[in-house]
Amino acid sequence: MKNKYISEILNEYEKLRENAKLEQSKRIEEIYEKIPRIKDIDKEISQIGFRIATSVVSKDIDNIEEYINTQKEKITDLKIEKTELLSRYGYPIDYMEIKYKCKKCKDTGYINNKYCSCFRQKLINKYYQQSNLNEILRTENFDTFNFEYYSSRPYENEELSPRDNIERIYAYAVNYTKNFDKINESLFFYGSSGLGKTFLSNCIAKELLDKGKVVIYQTAANLMDIIRRCRFEENSNYNELNELLECDFLIIDDLGTEPVTPYSYSELFNIINTRILNKKKMLISTNFQLNDIIQNYPERITSRILGHFTLFKFYGEDIRIQKKFKK
Ligand SMILES: Nc1ncnc2c1ncn2[C@@H]1O[C@H](COP(=O)(O)OP(=O)(O)O)[C@@H](O)[C@H]1O
Ligand SMILES: [Mg+2]
Ligand SMILES: [Zn+2]
Repeated sequence: MKNKYISEILNEYEKLRENAKLEQSKRIEEIYEKIPRIKDIDKEISQIGFRIATSVVSKDIDNIEEYINTQKEKITDLKIEKTELLSRYGYPIDYMEIKYKCKKCKDTGYINNKYCSCFRQKLINKYYQQSNLNEILRTENFDTFNFEYYSSRPYENEELSPRDNIERIYAYAVNYTKNFDKINESLFFYGSSGLGKTFLSNCIAKELLDKGKVVIYQTAANLMDIIRRCRFEENSNYNELNELLECDFLIIDDLGTEPVTPYSYSELFNIINTRILNKKKMLISTNFQLNDIIQNYPERITSRILGHFTLFKFYGEDIRIQKKFKK
């Protein structure tokens, strides 16, 4: 299974690189047509390059070092002229360069013989069946977050109105993703269902994925299934489970919906605990109230969560129901 995924992904990379080359040659052609001088410049540059390369074996040049230096200066001047021309015609100065999707690995998937984070993310998306995540993130992100569903009127005994509360949480989340590398804290969202906990988790996931972070998003129930399968499957590959501990951000959604067994407790505790020890961040969300969580989970789990996570309570009117009424 794993080998199949890997070769699929390597094919994707090959296509990406071919495509990047193709797009580049299209741009070059466009420029040559619009700014013919640049075509001459490129030609001159490659001729000079050739001259430099052959000068080493030439006997007609007295001072090779000096010769090479003057040739190199010529190239620099030509490159400057080219840049000036590009910007005079309103093009970005890197317009003729090749543009890879991932600058880090130049769409090869590897850096120094190790998987690039983009490769790991692709593997995770396949392994954890997250391929549809990208689609969800197109509609659920910080830009599409709608505050109108949260009332500005006081709510039960809460100090803040639902609107003020969600604005505070939203700002916190934006800041969290902005300063992700400097922050060493995890997030815990709780409150009844339909209040945007999953939505806001997706906003955070999108922002981090765009930053090139490796993110796993799973509901607690799915996560337990995956772990069980991997642990008890023959030929199971440990690496993928390892990503639960290694990935930059682990989102466990709907905690409390997984089947509760001593086994799932210990797996869950192990993941949370190991990540905390390794200073790896996560986001856990649940439709339960804090009291339910405390009653339902062993104290060693809850004290871990309460101690290392910043807690956010979601409250207000169920957005799913509001949407239904609108229709
Ligand atoms: N801020 C928001 N703006 C627009 N739609 C939202 C927002 N928050 C939630 N929704 C929508 O409301 C529904 C319930 O939100 P969800 O995030 O699943 O709630 P929860 O995880 O708290 O149960 C979903 O259809 C979601 O797309
Ligand atoms: Mg949810
Ligand atoms: Zn990469």
